[in-house]
Amino acid sequence: MGGKVGIIGAGQVGAAAGFLLANVPGISEVVLVDMDAARARSEAADIAHAAAFGSPALVRAGDYAELAGAGVVVVTAGTSLKPGQTRLDLLAANVGVVSAVLERVLAVAPEAVLLFASNPVDVMPAVAVRHFGVPRGRAIGTGCALDSARFRDRLARHLGLSPGSVHANVLGEHGDSEVLHWSGAQVAGMPLADFAAGMGVPLTSEARESITQEVRTSAYRIKEGKGVSNFGIGGCIARLTRAIVNDEHVVFSTSTFMEELLGVGETCVSLPHVLSAQGASAPFLPPLDAAEETALRHSAEVLRQAIRVGLD
Ligand code: LAC
Repeated sequence: MGGKVGIIGAGQVGAAAGFLLANVPGISEVVLVDMDAARARSEAADIAHAAAFGSPALVRAGDYAELAGAGVVVVTAGTSLKPGQTRLDLLAANVGVVSAVLERVLAVAPEAVLLFASNPVDVMPAVAVRHFGVPRGRAIGTGCALDSARFRDRLARHLGLSPGSVHANVLGEHGDSEVLHWSGAQVAGMPLADFAAGMGVPLTSEARESITQEVRTSAYRIKEGKGVSNFGIGGCIARLTRAIVNDEHVVFSTSTFMEELLGVGETCVSLPHVLSAQGASAPFLPPLDAAEETALRHSAEVLRQAIRVGLD
């Protein structure tokens, strides 16, 4: 896996990702591509000046031809969520943008692992697989990897722990129908509820509902306050890209196109996948309680319909 990473879209998300990727060990070159070439050049220069304090990575702007040889191409292009919108409201606009991007990316980097962040992010791997024949494992949506980090961050604050000690995933749509996998959450190999009780901070049903709503609506609140969410998704992109470039074989809840899930056909939602230089493994469906299974099946159906509307 070469250490060259391309980023399509030099907006707030692409720039945040580029800033972090320039400092990821194993990444030797970051190429920013944007239809606003002046914007891409300025962001690349600014990031390069930060990288000069300690990173060997070459950071530059370029056109699509400069993506040749990239091991990973990150797609952040498209309109972002505006207050009052859901991510699915961006479907028609962004499927068109991402399709145009894929035409040009695949012409110069047909073997690259594609990592999508453009919303509705869960539809984009389906565009790559169904319309461009990209192998399923090389079309990855950041999906609920970000939501899982939000879940772990919130649980860690409840428990007074480091987020790295909390193992908890969010599954399904990166959006309103996402499923917090409470029954699978653990600390120190113990069920979360047992550990919380042992810490004297029991997870009451009210606390769980409050945490669920807080995680699910994080982006909306952030956008209301600052107009955009960019650092969370930027950090998510950087971590997932690092896992691919460095062939880490690490597990994240990410989104890939699936022929069938829980009886729902042709959908794309987040489940645990192993990320490596080859991209994403087949998804793993963890044990779910009855409510979680029902919610995940609903989320898969939401995306099945969105994919049909967006692609057909
Ligand atoms: C968010 C955007 C990236 O959740 O969907 O912040």
